[in-house]
Amino acid sequence: MKTRITELFGIKHPIIQGGMHFVGLAELAAAVSNAGGLGIITGLTQRTPADLAKEIARCRTMTDKPFGVNLTFLPSVTPPDYPGYVQAIIDGGVKIVETAGNNPQRWLPMLKEAGIKVIHKCTSVRHSLKAESIGCDAVSVDGFECGGHPGEDDVPNFILLPRAAEELAIPFVASGGMADARSLVAAMALGAEGMNMGTRFMATVEAPIHENVKRALVAASELDTRLVMRPLRNTERVLINAGVERLLEKEKALGAGLKFEDIIGEVAGVYPAIMQRGEMDAGAWSCGMVAGLIHDIPTCQQLIDRIMSDAEAIIRGRLVGMLDD
Ligand SMILES: Cc1cc2nc3c(=O)[nH]c(=O)nc-3n(C[C@H](O)[C@H](O)[C@H](O)COP(=O)(O)O)c2cc1C
Repeated sequence: MKTRITELFGIKHPIIQGGMHFVGLAELAAAVSNAGGLGIITGLTQRTPADLAKEIARCRTMTDKPFGVNLTFLPSVTPPDYPGYVQAIIDGGVKIVETAGNNPQRWLPMLKEAGIKVIHKCTSVRHSLKAESIGCDAVSVDGFECGGHPGEDDVPNFILLPRAAEELAIPFVASGGMADARSLVAAMALGAEGMNMGTRFMATVEAPIHENVKRALVAASELDTRLVMRPLRNTERVLINAGVERLLEKEKALGAGLKFEDIIGEVAGVYPAIMQRGEMDAGAWSCGMVAGLIHDIPTCQQLIDRIMSDAEAIIRGRLVGMLDD
């Protein structure tokens, strides 16, 4: 498949692995890129810009294909060393950056100057248009189904993607709820030029996370995610567990008076506990509704090959077969 996304990023297949905290390490990014997709290292999982520089170098030893780095801009009292991270990306020769969270405008001149292509993740048409107007090269349109932060508008991809197609001139990929060839073909039909997957890539052989997490994803159904932190306008879709149930009870009890400090036990330090130690009740970790479509733990190569060959079969067989001559 050749699309504006495969052309823009110099990749074989229009499939991107979105940045994921404590999941997007060099092993996963390299495996996705080696399989012809676009792997992405999660910048802020590396504690310092120097650590990110090392992770980029490590990824280079595992693949000679293009890969990217995710930079998530979060509101924070003590912000991370963003200038340092951006410099590590530039110095590391990375040519693709996935931005997410706040408006990345401040960092675009530096990134553009270095010849870096920027894809910004957005949960609404208005943010996508903003990204286009400030000079982003592409957008990842993240629907309400997605694992992680779906924003506060709650528009699912069956509406959000065609709306984005109506308004955007730059290419975009569908993100949120994407799992297989059906997702890819549907996303293309709705106007996207590729797809971004998070949760699906966690249940792969190369994802450098605890086996308990992969097993939990295979066991989970589409009914097993919950939205947390809505009262803080920082909504996150997570997999249900004892920690999340505790968090939701606090949200119910405290109502609009909820403060971040009230739930810190269920949200802070959770990622290393879950991803590295497999403590599945530790608290809130991002997971998409797409867990209901995850039934196995293939290698990234098997997953991507399967998606591309099934997509061809759906288009040439099922869809063309439905047309009258
Ligand atoms: C465990 C996990 C951690 C994530 N961490 C980040 C992150 O640090 N930054 C970011 O921009 N997106 C993050 N995301 C969102 C993904 O990049 C992607 O947009 C999302 O997973 C797409 O929805 P899906 O899970 O339905 O495929 C995370 C998602 C998951 C599942």
